[in-house]
Amino acid sequence: MVRKKISVIGAGNVGASLAQFLALKELGDVYLFDVVDGVPEGKALDILEGLPHWGADVSVKGFTTTDPEAYKHLEGSDVIVVTAGLARKPGMTRDDLLSKNVAILTSIGQSVRKYSPNSRIVVVSNPADVMAYAFQKASGIKPEYIMGLGGSLDSARFRTFLAEELSVSVDDVNAFVIGGHGDDMVPFIRYSNVAGIPITSLLSKEKIDEIVKRTRFGGGEIVNYLKTGSAYYAPGISITAMVESIIKNKRRVIPCAAYLTGSHAKHYGAEGIFIGLPIKIGENGVEEIYDMDFNSEEKALWDKTVESVQSSCKKVDEFIKSSN
Ligand code: 2OP
Repeated sequence: MVRKKISVIGAGNVGASLAQFLALKELGDVYLFDVVDGVPEGKALDILEGLPHWGADVSVKGFTTTDPEAYKHLEGSDVIVVTAGLARKPGMTRDDLLSKNVAILTSIGQSVRKYSPNSRIVVVSNPADVMAYAFQKASGIKPEYIMGLGGSLDSARFRTFLAEELSVSVDDVNAFVIGGHGDDMVPFIRYSNVAGIPITSLLSKEKIDEIVKRTRFGGGEIVNYLKTGSAYYAPGISITAMVESIIKNKRRVIPCAAYLTGSHAKHYGAEGIFIGLPIKIGENGVEEIYDMDFNSEEKALWDKTVESVQSSCKKVDEFIKSSN
C-alpha cells in the first residue's frame, strides 16, 4: 500500500511538534518545509532518527524553501498543513500579525496551487480563520478542501479546564468552541456536557464564566508564560486530530474554521468567510457544516465574532488589492 503523504509548511515549534506527532502515529510520510536554511532538514532528520524506538515506519524529510522550486516536493500531498508565519509575542493580539502573515500565506498559496492543488489543507498560521481566507484567495483551491485550526484547539482547552474542575476524565467531557480563533471566540455552554449531563447543572454560573474566560485567553496564558513564543504542543495535537480524520476518513466532528456559503451562509448570517463551527472532517475535507440554533444571548456573541472575522477579511482584501 502506498503511504499517505503529509506536508507541513513551517518548521517552527508548531510545525516541528506536529511533524513528530504525525510520524509517531504513522499517519504517513512527513515532508517538512521552511524558509530558514537547514532547519527543516535538521528537524526532519532528528524526528526520523527517533522512530526506531517507536517502531514507526514512515519517512520524514525536510526542504529549505529559499529556492521556491523546493515546493515541487509538495506534489501529491494528501494533506498540507500551513503553519508558517510569525507567532505572537506578549502584548500582541492575533490580529497584529495579520498583514505580515497575509503576505506569507499568499506566497505559499501560490506554490500550493502550482504543485499540489488537489490536497486537503489545514491552515494554522494566525489569525487562522482569516489566514484560511487569504490562503483560499491566493491559491484558488476549493474552499471545502480548506479548514482552519481554531475550535479544535480551543475546544481541547475548554474540555481540559472542565475536566480539571470536575475531576472527571477528559474522555467524558463534550464541549466545544465556535466562532473566530480570537478573544471573542464562543465557548458553547448550552451544548457542553459531561457524559450527557449539561455543565450548567454541574457547575455554578460564576465557575462556568471563569472557565469560559480562561478558554478565550488560553493562547494568551501560554504566551505570557513562554514570553518569547506561543503554544505548540496542544496546537500540534489538535492539528493531528484533524489530519487523522482526513487521512483515515474518520469523519470526526471537530469545530474548525470552514467556508460559509449557500444555505449555511444564510443560516449563520455570514457569507464568504471562514469561521469556526462544528464540521465533519473526512477524506473530502469539510464534508458537512452543521447548522446550530442560537438563543438571543448566543446570537449576540456569534454576531460579534462574525463581525471581527469579517473586518479582518476586509483588511485582507485591501492588502491584496494594494499589493497588486
Ligand atoms: C493559540 O491559541 C497559537 O493561536 C494559538 O495558542
